[in-house]
Amino acid sequence: MTAMSESLAPRKSYHLTTFGCQMNEHDSERMKGMLQSLGYAEAKDLEGADLILFNTCSIRESADSRFIARLGEAKRLKKHDPARIIGVGGCFAQSVKEEIFERFPFVDVAFGPGQVHKLAEFLTADSLSAQGYFEFEGFTGRLPAHRERPFQGWLQISVGCNCRCSYCIVPSTRGREVSRPLPELIGEAQAMAADGVREITLLGQNVNSYGRDLRDEAGPRSFAELLHALDGVEGIERIRYTSPHPKDIREDVIRAHAQLASLCEHIHLPLQSGSSRILKAMRRTYTRERYLQKVALIQEQVPDVSLTTDIIVGFPGETEEDFEQTLQVVDEVGYDGAFTFIFSPRRGTEAAAMGESFVPHPVKIERLQRLIELVQRRAEQRAQRFVGRTVEVLVEGPSRNDPAKLRGRTRHNKVVNFDGLTAPGEMAFVQITSASSQTLAGEERLLAGARAQPC
Ligand code: 5AD
Ligand code: SF4
Repeated sequence: MTAMSESLAPRKSYHLTTFGCQMNEHDSERMKGMLQSLGYAEAKDLEGADLILFNTCSIRESADSRFIARLGEAKRLKKHDPARIIGVGGCFAQSVKEEIFERFPFVDVAFGPGQVHKLAEFLTADSLSAQGYFEFEGFTGRLPAHRERPFQGWLQISVGCNCRCSYCIVPSTRGREVSRPLPELIGEAQAMAADGVREITLLGQNVNSYGRDLRDEAGPRSFAELLHALDGVEGIERIRYTSPHPKDIREDVIRAHAQLASLCEHIHLPLQSGSSRILKAMRRTYTRERYLQKVALIQEQVPDVSLTTDIIVGFPGETEEDFEQTLQVVDEVGYDGAFTFIFSPRRGTEAAAMGESFVPHPVKIERLQRLIELVQRRAEQRAQRFVGRTVEVLVEGPSRNDPAKLRGRTRHNKVVNFDGLTAPGEMAFVQITSASSQTLAGEERLLAGARAQPC
């Protein structure tokens, strides 16, 4: 095809719906980058798209149901216009593999998280017969990116997970852990900085085991080493990461929070349960005491740190006493926020086979409500420490509830809604006037010499 006919050809369009975690958001940005390099333009909705794509999640049953409902819409659209292509990527696709074509015969292409690059191969092939790609190969992070916000970027440092948490489907959908070489990550961070990225979030299922599998001339690398190297990248002002595993977070990483200017004062440390008995059944390989020791070390080294967590209620066999131990840990730690989940049995996991000890649904609901109430009460108390302080906020855009205000995030990962004039992508200095469990409110202060760019 000549350049002339290429420019005259109508552009093909795609629509991509993303479900699930930050790793999926990252993978979706890469899918978008890849599609744009193939000449596809983004459509506003499913209806306006020649290619309807889903990047799926399977972590809980609710994620499956949301996806299947949305897939129904795509099916209806394809019935009216059979030339549309429907593609399903991500963890749901990986967990059911070829079965997806039996259950949903209108799906044209399916691919797991390790096969995003095969989508391009499929779209550029002569025949578009249904195809499934489910090997674990390659990092999505090596594909071109289309960033949601030009000043924030994901950096995929590893893929897969070698843990065997008994409730979790991720090891089977994302495979064994593989780290990306350190020089490649530094190069990508430098390129991002040159592109205007100021804040990067490092992504891995268990970031603390980064580098153990690397065998370059420098030998195994460590996560702390990576953090130190990234802190040296000119232009990257904030570094975040998710998620560390409590069993693997080491003192060198905790100390890095106190030492490195760009490393934010926030650690997301998934607890899952406060009962050592349940932690054992979950195969988390730490006890309640070990977890609390890590928290004490973090709070000693980084006194102002924000701690957030993930907690599952109603794991098989969880008694009222086990649950109360979870409440005690939440009260003792005083998290700045928590994601709370009801245990959901996932196909192929060890915990899904513990049917005889499943906790009744009403009990799970009641525990979840009690947990949320405590999490919010403690988070609101914790948030009061910011009232009266002037904090650095990376402006993300207009506030969601009141477009006359701005919205951004502090280094502690708190969302702030505030009166101010600073443009998205710039740092504002905001005096906090009130705080709730979820958000802070404040007013911008113009500090002489503190602004990154003159008005
Ligand atoms: N049921 C409920 N929550 C789960 N998570 C992972 N698997 C399950 C499951 N089967 C939660 C964990 C994890 C977070 C990403 O999702 O808390 O940290
Ligand atoms: Fe799942 Fe556990 Fe791996 Fe996290 S560490 S992805 S919960 S198996």
